[in-house]
Amino acid sequence: MSMNIADSQQVIERNIAMELVRVTEAAALAAARYLGRGDKNLVDQTAVAAMRHVLGHVSMDGIVVIGEGEKDQAPMLYVDERIGDGSTPQVDIAVDPIDGTALVARGLPGAIAVVALSERGTMHCPTQFFYMNKIVTGPEAKDSIDINAPVAENLRRIAAAKNRKISEIAVVVLDRPRHEQLLSEIRAAGARVKLISDGDVAAAVEAALPDREIDVLMGIGGVPEGVLSAAAIRCIGGGIQGKAWARSEDERKAAVAAGVDVDKVYRTEDLVDSDQVFFAATGVSTGELLKGVRYFRGGAQTHSVAMRSRSGTVRWVDSWHNFGKLDKLDFFETH
Ligand code: FBP
Repeated sequence: MSMNIADSQQVIERNIAMELVRVTEAAALAAARYLGRGDKNLVDQTAVAAMRHVLGHVSMDGIVVIGEGEKDQAPMLYVDERIGDGSTPQVDIAVDPIDGTALVARGLPGAIAVVALSERGTMHCPTQFFYMNKIVTGPEAKDSIDINAPVAENLRRIAAAKNRKISEIAVVVLDRPRHEQLLSEIRAAGARVKLISDGDVAAAVEAALPDREIDVLMGIGGVPEGVLSAAAIRCIGGGIQGKAWARSEDERKAAVAAGVDVDKVYRTEDLVDSDQVFFAATGVSTGELLKGVRYFRGGAQTHSVAMRSRSGTVRWVDSWHNFGKLDKLDFFETH
């Protein structure tokens, strides 16, 4: 007898985020060795292999929903790959072994290894598109945002919800030519701007956390990163709204022809439709959210965050890894 999604709905009793931290730690430890070496592919491949190895040991029946692409392009962690030891719970998995591969390759701050997990069948996004226009903010202003409203209107409402002047609101934006218009609208509205060269998952988490310099993320970034950001937001509160953004008229027409609602606004609950969500990330290169990997004689220190939506607990995890001992465990490649 086949099991449908409704049958498979289950309370996930254990906090898998604690296990996911080991997954992101492994990816970060592996990739950080290539900091500043100028090779994006090497950074990515190393992180993917380490992440996959440790994910494979987690007790779960996972399906990669957000991964490294299609099977024929990606040898590991491709979309639809089954992962875990095959036992319960049945889950969807979103991975970005390194968000900010170019940051690692160039030795720049803010790269993280990241993974999220939720009940089977609950992660959704417009997969026909590469990019999504996003707006993210924390709990105070989450009901004030509207991706279809003008930028200035959003900033005015966010400032009001936070009881601040617009000049006291900071917006994080990916530094891309496509954001020229957005930037001039933010500046005309009088808000502060922080440009980042890559890594909009960490930036989205920063925008949603209450005690940070950043109040809102705006602009066009990857669709997969939107789902990962939504998973974190389910845990920490706040809201994301995203809308597919076509790179070309052909991309848009193809999606329309495939019956996709190209104007749909994806809210947090659309991207991750579950309250059993787990999120973990580890810093690769030191950024605002997480410290990067620091090597010492015989080992390394990592800095991670682990979150669970049901409890709302956010744990900051400072780990010390002993390579001599880990090598004997065959847990992950430490060198
Ligand atoms: P990768 O490291 O996975 O390539 O992503 C980095 C990133 O900056 C994301 O955080 C962001 O969503 C996306 O790239 C933006 O895409 P692009 O660099 O094409 O503008």
